[in-house]
Amino acid sequence: MKILVLGPGGREHAIVRALLRDPAVETVEAAPGNAGIARDVTCRPVDATDPESVAALAAAGAYDLVVIGPEAPLAAGVADAVRAAGIPVFGPSQDAAQLEASKAFAKEIMAAAAVPTAEAIHITTAAEAADALNRFGPPYVVKDDGLAAGKGVVVTENRDEAQTHAEACLTGGSTVVIEEFLDGPEVSLFVICDGQNLVPMSPAQDFKRIYDDDAGPNTGGMGAYTPLDWLEGYTETHGGVPRNFTEIVVDRVARPTVEEMARRGTPFVGVLYCGLAITSRGVRVVEFNARFGDPEIQAVLERLATPLGALLFDAATGQLGTGRHLRWSDGYAADVVMAAENYPEAPRKGDAITGIADAEALDGVAVLHAGTAEKDEGLATAGGRVLAVVGTGGTLREAVDRAYAGVDRIEWSGAQHRTDIAAKALAGQINPGSPAPEGPQQ
Ligand code: AMP
Ligand code: GLY
Repeated sequence: MKILVLGPGGREHAIVRALLRDPAVETVEAAPGNAGIARDVTCRPVDATDPESVAALAAAGAYDLVVIGPEAPLAAGVADAVRAAGIPVFGPSQDAAQLEASKAFAKEIMAAAAVPTAEAIHITTAAEAADALNRFGPPYVVKDDGLAAGKGVVVTENRDEAQTHAEACLTGGSTVVIEEFLDGPEVSLFVICDGQNLVPMSPAQDFKRIYDDDAGPNTGGMGAYTPLDWLEGYTETHGGVPRNFTEIVVDRVARPTVEEMARRGTPFVGVLYCGLAITSRGVRVVEFNARFGDPEIQAVLERLATPLGALLFDAATGQLGTGRHLRWSDGYAADVVMAAENYPEAPRKGDAITGIADAEALDGVAVLHAGTAEKDEGLATAGGRVLAVVGTGGTLREAVDRAYAGVDRIEWSGAQHRTDIAAKALAGQINPGSPAPEGPQQ
């Protein structure tokens, strides 16, 4: 198989590396990739959000499969154009990608499919925003309806800040979703879909805020780990049948959503990223995304033992079948994102990076690139999130320690990272109680 991976970030670097481990994959190329990806495979220049350019590149390269990494090409209809050129694509159509591109659309699908999520109001004026904020009360959750790279959401106790964010989104031309606050730990579960059949991956947890202890603004994600031992005993009972966490998400969230999308004539092919909160009333959807989470997938793919190429090809061509399970290596993976100075507001670019080779020389450490570029025969920062340093180990403690040992070797001016990735899990401080069987079903 010859596979093209589309996108410029850490997620795409992780996908490229996992594909290179698959014996059925002869060639992997990336477009546009980044400086780290270019050290592993050939990178092709392309405007990743221009459907015709990507389709032309895919046809010229005679690829057997195109894997679309980020959300922007999906929302722009790149998957449709490549499919129209007769090439299998892992990634949803423009219509199906609305599950991520429009929070209001996602809420409409969840309502139609009876998927448990936060109650929400879609508003288009400042006065409606004020009414909605009054109705839900603090903490306030205000979301830009459109794509905003994880930065369109404000969760705050401060009513003025909530109103100001809503008005800023409206002024920017977006509509706004205001919703009920969901308490409880968050989990990302990626479910591979072929339009009909589903294969869940291993749950992961992501750290969205820029600073330790979940302080500061939301980012694309500052670190992650997998698997989640604290989910082991979690069950919910529906219709008298107790189910574990992954079964709950597949049965109550992913399957009804994928069925609703198929019913509407817009089948979902690709990965349905279920962003979930485990509340006192049970599992609720925080958001859907239409692609793998970054930086969760860097950790998840480090443990995947099933060959990735065949899995994504079968999803792209409607051949996942039923009862398919993934194999995982024993142990744990954790990653720590290193970000540029001033991320997420206005990241500074062009700072020289040192120490990557030293970090990679450590046992159980891999360095995946996101915002890097070649400069003066070395590497320099070229984006907000610059690197994800992944540690693997027999215990979560070992995986986390290895990731941080790698981070300690790497430097540039203004580099920042969180120091508490997986700390609560390691301290045994995440204990979601299972909801009572007779508790509310919604
Ligand atoms: P989203 O882009 O919808 O995933 O939101 C980004 C982040 O904001 C989520 O990962 C949560 O940490 C937080 N968030 C979003 N919606 C809610 C909610 N209803 N209640 C609590 N936190 C939320
Ligand atoms: N890590 C969160 C995201 O990819 O949206």
